[in-house]
Amino acid sequence: MRTILVTGGAGFIGSNFIKHLREKHPTYLILNVDVLTYAGNLENLSEFETDPLYEFHKIDIRNRDAMEALFLSYKIDEIVHFAAESHVDRSILEPELFLTTNVLGTQVLLDAALRHWKLAPDDKHSRAYREGVCFVHVSTDEVYGSLGETGFFTEETPLSPNSPYSASKASSDLLVRSYHETYGLPVKTTRCSNNYGPYQFPEKLIPLMIHNCMTNQPLPVYGDGGHVRDWLHVRDHCEAIDLVRENGRFGEVYNIGGHNEKTNLELVRTIIQAFGLSEDQIRFVSDRPGHDRRYAIDPTKMRMELGWSPRYRFEEGIEETIEWYKTHPEWVESIVSGSYRSYYESMYSSL
Ligand code: NAD
Ligand code: TYD
Repeated sequence: MRTILVTGGAGFIGSNFIKHLREKHPTYLILNVDVLTYAGNLENLSEFETDPLYEFHKIDIRNRDAMEALFLSYKIDEIVHFAAESHVDRSILEPELFLTTNVLGTQVLLDAALRHWKLAPDDKHSRAYREGVCFVHVSTDEVYGSLGETGFFTEETPLSPNSPYSASKASSDLLVRSYHETYGLPVKTTRCSNNYGPYQFPEKLIPLMIHNCMTNQPLPVYGDGGHVRDWLHVRDHCEAIDLVRENGRFGEVYNIGGHNEKTNLELVRTIIQAFGLSEDQIRFVSDRPGHDRRYAIDPTKMRMELGWSPRYRFEEGIEETIEWYKTHPEWVESIVSGSYRSYYESMYSSL
């Protein structure tokens, strides 16, 4: 039986990924390690409560002893590493937390994998293939910094992060790379563009705008609203990660994106229209410091090497996402009010 450790599995992308894994690989044992920060919500995974091949472990990835104990208790074959502090605005307020979680937490995982997989640098690839072990590091296009009006991020674009968040992710990417080059750890790194879809915490642009439309609140647009993001449905991202996990080459980086560039203003207008509201609800507020102007991914490597392309058209994806938030008001409310914590306090006595 294959055992996959998913870190950050109670978050937005991690929980969608666990659903994807279970559907595609029903025989895998899935270990979800998450410390349940404000962004982690076990309600996302309530369908797994009775699944005998799924276990939740409330562990901080920075806790070496706890991670060591987990590796001693299970024969972990693969790690898919999502756990991170993920919101740029928070990183501006609290950069140290981003460094400890995103960089040092990643190092703890790399060390644990190295120790337990007992790989030697001299047989870098063969042994990793033989034993089927693999560390997938989930990163972001934000490590490349900001584009001008033209061009795309390729896997060769130099790293040039501009926020404490993206700097911490770039640092973790480099650490992951170094464990491959120095110790022969079988790693693969993905860098995806902005995700949207169900279970995204309503501090990020799309769920925030949907929530504010639903509750008749102003829609804060930073600066002139002309900043461009390249949107991908979270399920397309999950499918891409699973492909990289299975067929990607060790030591390689894979950029993931679906050529869906929108300015923030365009996006906000689309959401306003879906609710039949007026643009008067838009409030232009002061700009985010260090605000990257444009992201856009060149996904050629994913397509050519792994045959991946996104399934969602943006128009249907955003419509489905708005519908999901409309039909799950209790999920958003529980997060906004913080009451979702009591849900799992009754399930896990250590909380
Ligand atoms: P998220 O904030 O929704 O979830 C992060 C999860 O990690 C939460 O469940 C949280 O409890 C957990 N976590 C945080 N610190 C932890 C710690 N010290 N120990 C254990 N668990 C911890 O984030 P997300 O949007 O799902 O992003 C997941 C990953 O994907 C991140 O690494 C992020 O950099 C990357 N990514 C995100 C996007 C995006 O658009 N959201 C795009 C590309 C890449
Ligand atoms: P966000 O969802 O925070 O993702 P990221 O900063 O990682 O790309 O923001 C997406 C874009 O939306 C970004 O250009 C900042 C902008 N934005 C707003 O204009 N208003 C908001 O309230 C938020 C949260 C973001």
